[in-house]
Amino acid sequence: MSDEAPKRFAGYAAADLVDSGMVVGLGTGSTVRYAMERLAERMRQGLTCVGVPTSHQTAMRARALGIPLASLNDAPRLGIAIDGADQVDPALRLIKGRGAALTREKCVAAAADRLVIVVDEGKLAERLAVQVPIEVLPFACATVTARLARMGGSGRVREGTAKDGPVVTDNGGLVIDWSFGPIDDPERLESEIERIPGVVTAGIFSGFGKKTTVIVGDDAGYRVLTR
Ligand code: A5P
Repeated sequence: MSDEAPKRFAGYAAADLVDSGMVVGLGTGSTVRYAMERLAERMRQGLTCVGVPTSHQTAMRARALGIPLASLNDAPRLGIAIDGADQVDPALRLIKGRGAALTREKCVAAAADRLVIVVDEGKLAERLAVQVPIEVLPFACATVTARLARMGGSGRVREGTAKDGPVVTDNGGLVIDWSFGPIDDPERLESEIERIPGVVTAGIFSGFGKKTTVIVGDDAGYRVLTR
């Protein structure tokens, strides 16, 4: 069985939740890619929908697949948003942002009636503990870093791998990856980080649990988690 099978099972199951006429938030990453693949297949069979992409990567993939797109300004109310995650806890709180698309992902998640998160088993955890991506204004990078250091933990500005220097997001921001260790109170930490002047978005998504469905793919199929 390929490593991709869990992602494909989860992504396809999420795309099958889309009804004709819906505006669909399209998250970013390697699992959402399968949801878009299946969405395009369903569109060839007659489904109609419009996608709101959360990154240049997703917009480019959607165009290649023939999925029509709108901006969040054109379509500010979404029936569903489908996205990946870096970690999910039992209350369906998330850490997101490995792909540096966290700001647009949070905007789209907030605008959607329903948030469907597609992951494999390895993303599930009893407590959120992986590093937290934080998008910041380049202007305030040093002051935000100093404030984070006073909160505890450690981290650094994300560097590009096919580019010298920092990763610049689709919004012109930088990303600080910060390790806080296991997080006791994700709601509190999310709002503390987002109160720091210069922070655009914290990669903790703690406020969407009630409208979240998590689809967990494995080698043989998928299971569904709700609160
Ligand atoms: C993008 O910035 C991230 O939030 C992704 O949605 C998340 O990292 C999941 O990506 P994968 O599905 O590729 O693991």
